[in-house]
Amino acid sequence: MEQRDQWATKLGLILAMAGNAIGLGNFWRFPYQLASNGGGAFMIPYFIALFFLGIPVMWIEWTTGRYGGKYGHGTIGPMFYLMARESVKPKTALIFGIIGGMLAFSVASLLSSYYYQVIGWSAAYTYYSLTGAYFGKDTVQFFLDYVANTKAVIFFWGLTMVLLGIAVGQGVSKGIERWVKVMMPLLYVFAILLVIRALTLGSPVKPEWSSIKGLEYIWKPDFQTLSKHFFKISLAAAGQIFFTLSLGMGIIHNYASYLGPEDDVALSGLATVSLNEFAEVVLGGSLAIPIAFAYLGPEQAIKGGVGLAYMALPNVFANMPAGQIFGAMWFLLLWFAGFTSAIATYNYLVAMLEEDIHIERKIGTWVVWIFLFILGLPVALDSTLAYLSELDMWVGSYFLVLLGLFDVIVAVWLFKPDNFWEELHKGAYIKVPEWFKPIITYIAPLFMIILLGGNTYDYWKNGAFSVSKYYVTEVLKYDYTPEIISLITRARIVIFIILIIGAIEAY
Ligand code: PHE
Ligand code: NA
Repeated sequence: MEQRDQWATKLGLILAMAGNAIGLGNFWRFPYQLASNGGGAFMIPYFIALFFLGIPVMWIEWTTGRYGGKYGHGTIGPMFYLMARESVKPKTALIFGIIGGMLAFSVASLLSSYYYQVIGWSAAYTYYSLTGAYFGKDTVQFFLDYVANTKAVIFFWGLTMVLLGIAVGQGVSKGIERWVKVMMPLLYVFAILLVIRALTLGSPVKPEWSSIKGLEYIWKPDFQTLSKHFFKISLAAAGQIFFTLSLGMGIIHNYASYLGPEDDVALSGLATVSLNEFAEVVLGGSLAIPIAFAYLGPEQAIKGGVGLAYMALPNVFANMPAGQIFGAMWFLLLWFAGFTSAIATYNYLVAMLEEDIHIERKIGTWVVWIFLFILGLPVALDSTLAYLSELDMWVGSYFLVLLGLFDVIVAVWLFKPDNFWEELHKGAYIKVPEWFKPIITYIAPLFMIILLGGNTYDYWKNGAFSVSKYYVTEVLKYDYTPEIISLITRARIVIFIILIIGAIEAY
């Protein structure tokens, strides 16, 4: 058998995993989740979820991935099948393989179909910052005009996708690893420069507004707000942990499959969590919200919602000294963050073709390109963003958590907790304390079941169309028309078709 591609260097591997995890989730999603869930109230369940959910699932996914890689597999279907076999008949193991493979394929495809769009917006806004295109304009209207400008949207999204295709086509060690080695250090440099800028803004607009107030809003524990909206805030916090750490997507497994069988996973998994959390709570937390606090005031900053990064902040850059440079830096930062995550979902799909149906990477890359282009087109053409919101709702609140739950069921329960523990410690640089075992085996899955139940209850209570309706009417201020409902319906049909294809593929 041909030698499977592997990470060339330890540094390359760590940067690739950091690039995978650190994404738009850290700089765009985290701030608006924080602001729409009470700031200091959000951080309490956030850290609890990090410890009881994030770290355990991260270890499970690294371990599962390396195990699959040993058998030449980088996708969930075969991985789950191989592990489940330890305690059930091959036929039953196959069912777990199919469910897992189907979910992971759906996440990689559907997530990419809208996430790549947002990366495309970042490319466009880098350009518009440099040219000062939105300066002196109503930046909310500018954004709405941009997403309605089909040609521009497709151009910047397509450009991003071509670069992604080139990177992934070169393979893991010669492509992905080389690209992240350039992009990740730049990402940190940009973020640190921007944080310094953000925290030294002073009170440019009103004496009582400052970025330091924004930091206080985040870091002052607010138990009162938390107890008032306990369930809602906790669900949002746990959901953010999942999203930001790239859990339940199959892409941590996939990257870990390019390890050698004796390479450490325990410390490396922890390193991924630490690098992502530094980029999230320290860097991400010190940017969008504090900057908005200084220029727009607390009220506007908190209300900014999903639009904070693309609608509110441009208005800030337009009024800031050297705003063209800082604006470009902010959007290029978003672009790098998104790009190095997008590579991972793209590679997952290419690995599937490569290993499961033996299509050469060079060809598979462009087959996947066309597939993702077709899947992304309805998102690109929808200026209401209802289609995008609907996809995000399903993928973000259900598929990720469901796949995470199957992670535990297969890699810990069926593979057997003792085997898992041994596998986790093979070649490990650290020893995980024994008392962490029950957290991995019982607490993490319980957490996920509550999360799934809570999301379902929310969905049911507020009506099946509520999430997208909220985006459309409250955030974007459009009317809620029959066209939008039909868009949402179309999104659901696409989700359904993708699930079916995923099941067939895994089979
Ligand atoms: N962890 C990523 C983030 O924070 C999530 C992601 C990964 C999204 C890969 C898309 C593709 O943004
Ligand atoms: Na992240």
